[in-house]
Amino acid sequence: MKITIMGPPGGGKGTQADILKERFAIPHISTGAIIRSEIREETPLGVAAKRYIDEGQLVPDDTIIQMVKTRLLEDDCKQGYILDGFPRTLAQAEAMESMGIALDYALDIEVPDNKLVERLGGRRECKECAASYHVVYNPPKVSGVCDKCGGELIQRADDVKETILERLSVYHAQTEPLKTFYKNAGLLVVVHGQEEIADTTREVMKALGVSE
Ligand code: AP5
Repeated sequence: MKITIMGPPGGGKGTQADILKERFAIPHISTGAIIRSEIREETPLGVAAKRYIDEGQLVPDDTIIQMVKTRLLEDDCKQGYILDGFPRTLAQAEAMESMGIALDYALDIEVPDNKLVERLGGRRECKECAASYHVVYNPPKVSGVCDKCGGELIQRADDVKETILERLSVYHAQTEPLKTFYKNAGLLVVVHGQEEIADTTREVMKALGVSE
């Protein structure tokens, strides 16, 4: 199974991808998570990408496309994968086609903008393993501590209101048009992600034609 999950910042792409990863036993590949890891390790890619992430802008296509190409060559991708946050521009979608990648689905999770600001403001991420939580909707068992590895939970640098609004604006201008691209390719499936996490998962499974 090869899926890309699209949708706005805070729409629940990462949350649902983590659930699908367990269900299908295939890797969850988040371009945002890869970039944040490169930033933490201060690699040349991370150093170059930091200012874009901090400003809520997209990292240049060439950098992202090369990064994804390299990741998809790894052994764990042989049985399929869940792409989270890639492609995000028409150039990235076309590059994926020219890599010969045939997706099974482009899953779009739709959530209205007013919900997204609240979701992203309350998100917390584990500093060690990058597991994601929400202070209200998906709290850890112990406040500030990751259930999975005991790591410290922190707020992402781009989850401040001004940057969230910029990310939303970039999403509407540059990524949302991909819905038409995937609709025309017959791959688009749309779910409504404004309800609780488990309700969205039910919709996602139904849209992908699998039982939970
Ligand atoms: P990235 O890390 O991909 O961020 P994003 O697209 O802005 O998406 P998020 O991770 O913020 O949200 P999500 O949809 O995964 O939601 P989540 O499940 O966490 O990218 C970051 C940056 O990297 C970009 O801005 C860009 O600079 C760069 N980048 C990445 N990919 C790129 C590319 N291809 N090209 C160029 N640049 C790229 O959920 C959010 C919160 O809500 C969580 O707290 C969660 O617990 C909660 N939640 C989830 N679902 C529900 C629900 N149904 N009900 C209640 N709460 C919920």
